[in-house]
Amino acid sequence: MTDTARNQIAIILATGNRDKVRELRPLLEHISPLFRVFALHEIGVNVDIEETETTLEGNALLKARAIFDLLAERFPFMIALADDTGLEVGSLNGAPGVYSARYAPMPEGESPTYKDNVKHLLRSMNGIADRTARFRSVIAMKGSLPSSQSPFLFEKIADGVVHGSITLEPKGDDGFGYDPVFLVDSTGNTYSEMSIAEKNALSHRSLAVQKAIIALKDILAAHGIPSTVTNAPL
Ligand code: IMP
Repeated sequence: MTDTARNQIAIILATGNRDKVRELRPLLEHISPLFRVFALHEIGVNVDIEETETTLEGNALLKARAIFDLLAERFPFMIALADDTGLEVGSLNGAPGVYSARYAPMPEGESPTYKDNVKHLLRSMNGIADRTARFRSVIAMKGSLPSSQSPFLFEKIADGVVHGSITLEPKGDDGFGYDPVFLVDSTGNTYSEMSIAEKNALSHRSLAVQKAIIALKDILAAHGIPSTVTNAPL
């Protein structure tokens, strides 16, 4: 069975979305030798956690808690780290928001693809001049850390926001989800016109992860756990 080395703390990416894993891993992998990063599929876990909350914070925490509870025995020292993300369009009153994954209406029992959602978004914005939008990610962590008595448990959330606008048509070949239609204000490119490293240098997800890492550093320091935690080299 895959396991952490003695004194190592597992960071479990609490998502079944391989596209998110591709972005999260380089942000977390080299922050400290204290941590070892695992995606769920690498440790043989295949679960579908239903997102029943009405906020990004609620859903991110729900996912972190579910994976923490599932793996607590197997990884005594561990941080379950979940991401919930929404695209919020001003002229659509913040939609699709927390429902970004399930935006396009589908027949009963079917889930929309990324393409279905993008198509539905462009159709919903047909003729709308105000195309301002923002991407918001919430990272939730539930962790168990070594301490002098019993393990120390913590929960923490952090968020990241990037402002942009919705293009009239998809642009670029990389990325996932709404990336081809989200034009970043600060660069004038869509996320799909960026490599993962370029997107990670400025994205909503990356900003949330950077804040989560700072919070983690403080938690470790407050509990006297020696570590050198650095932000991901961006
Ligand atoms: P959730 O966070 O798993 O609920 O994902 C919400 C949906 O938003 C996903 O299915 C994607 O379609 C979309 N999404 C999440 N993160 C990104 C991103 O970084 N770029 C583009 N679309 C995203």
